[in-house]
Amino acid sequence: MHNDIKEILFTKQEIDMMVHKIASQINEDFKGEELIAVIILKGSMIFAADLIRCLTVNVKLDFMQASSYGSGTTSSGVINIKKDIDTDIKGKNVLLIEDIIDSGNTLNLLKQEMQSRGAKTVKIASLLSKPDRRVVDIEVEYIGTDILDEFVVGYGLDMDEKYRQMDYIGILKPEIYM
Ligand code: PRP
Repeated sequence: MHNDIKEILFTKQEIDMMVHKIASQINEDFKGEELIAVIILKGSMIFAADLIRCLTVNVKLDFMQASSYGSGTTSSGVINIKKDIDTDIKGKNVLLIEDIIDSGNTLNLLKQEMQSRGAKTVKIASLLSKPDRRVVDIEVEYIGTDILDEFVVGYGLDMDEKYRQMDYIGILKPEIYM
């Protein structure tokens, strides 16, 4: 275990089980259909890499990097798209893949963006969710698990770009971020 980690929250095996659970739900829901997986950089790349390899549906990949700015208490924020997808998603099933949902602002705005581009359906898969932190009400179709409001890193999740490569998810020691 990394020295900066207070406690392991999910082991590699536990994460694997969550990934497989989400994949089987997606495989069931999109049987016989095509899916455009939009991977939201950077954090979700690790989760997405594992998830898409468990998918049996016809899936195409694209990448997006975005951050949200806004009031924080309403859904009227603004999305800053740092890197956009190349795919024309008009009439397509879009699956937004995230590592974690916090306030919900980023995904709420990204979902609206995909809908305004004419996507047939827009669904969200997120490995983790912090319901206590939510400021916008957003439907998330596929969630690995809810967690408490703690500083978690690993499996793509970072603090100042560190810890993304850990194959487990851990809670950071308070002295590291305070
Ligand atoms: C994280 C996460 C989501 C967003 C969730 O990304 O991957 O995109 O924050 O927060 P929200 O629900 O409050 O909008 P981050 O901005 O840390 O970028 P990263 O993936 O590159 O680490």
